[in-house]
Amino acid sequence: MDLYRLVRPLLFRMAPEAAHDLAFALGARAAEWPGLKAPDLPGALARHVLGLDFPSPLGLAAGLDKGATLLPLWQAMGFGHVEIGTVTPRPQPGNPKPRLFRFPEAGLILNRMGFNSEGAEVVAARLRQRPPGLIVGGNLGKNKETPEAGALGDYQEAYRLIAPLVDYVALNVSSPNTPGLRNLQAPEALKPLLRGMLALRKDMGLERQPLLLKVAPDLAPEDLEAIVEVAVASGISGLIATNTTLDRGVVPEPLRARVEAMGAGGLSGLPLKTKAREVRRHLLAALRGRLPLVACGGLGTAEDVQGALADGAGLAQIYSALIFEGPALVGRIHRGLVPACVRT
Ligand SMILES: Cc1cc2nc3c(=O)[nH]c(=O)nc-3n(C[C@H](O)[C@H](O)[C@H](O)COP(=O)(O)O)c2cc1C
Repeated sequence: MDLYRLVRPLLFRMAPEAAHDLAFALGARAAEWPGLKAPDLPGALARHVLGLDFPSPLGLAAGLDKGATLLPLWQAMGFGHVEIGTVTPRPQPGNPKPRLFRFPEAGLILNRMGFNSEGAEVVAARLRQRPPGLIVGGNLGKNKETPEAGALGDYQEAYRLIAPLVDYVALNVSSPNTPGLRNLQAPEALKPLLRGMLALRKDMGLERQPLLLKVAPDLAPEDLEAIVEVAVASGISGLIATNTTLDRGVVPEPLRARVEAMGAGGLSGLPLKTKAREVRRHLLAALRGRLPLVACGGLGTAEDVQGALADGAGLAQIYSALIFEGPALVGRIHRGLVPACVRT
């Protein structure tokens, strides 16, 4: 039975963040249920990417489980991996509420959460209890009050605490909700950041652990190409594309004024699909297979995921579609994917 269908009307009548908190409270209870276990996924879904064996190409994108509180639940839903975070080195509250807005009629979410984070120490303590058999990525960011010049120190501080406890690390330089963060995507800022992170990875003896970079969809083709060249030359392990968009042009016309009225923030979900796909295709063309790419942004069906994999992505992640459709979506995508995976 799809319980989400029963609770969804209630959740969607509540303020979005209150609904999130209630869903997490219910999820925490469900995660304690002793019968909870990962579904047996068909071997055809398995993928070897980034040197890791994923039971499925489908993962949960960063931002939903920022504090790694519901890992057993995501595992039971059948996700092949979960990206926790964004985790900032020190705790911070994020932006004032309201900062999360849903538009179910368009499958659209607007958020300006601004990295609400319990901080790396608290999240690390939770990761020490992580369930076995689930691939977990740690998505890292910087604190709001840290100047851009001090960004590397923040990523390193978070990395020291989180990296030893996860399977891969993603550097988030693409959230639109931390002022200046996206400037770190410019080659002159990106090069020293990646160099510094790779040096720390080596110092910590984690050379074999994948280090990824998560990029924004709001970049010109030449900027994407520059990021690819810096990423490949640096020796990092792959890219995640994309984060949310600032581009209000993706919003269907009848909704645009209402979305505008909600103010600043990044857009995700169905309206991001075309833009994210174009950015991914551009990145994949520029990458020429030199590094793997994790697809994210506007994916919501097996066809979407299969399309991203057919384009050359190694893995795919979802967030917004899960909010609108609920946990049964994971199984639906898997069922839709199996014939395609068996065929290829
Ligand atoms: C409410 C919300 C919070 C998010 N927080 C983060 C975050 O902390 N770090 C991050 O890298 N991405 C974050 N994202 C972006 C998602 O990981 C994803 O890149 C984006 O939503 C596009 O995927 P989707 O269309 O499937 O939602 C957030 C997205 C939403 C909707």
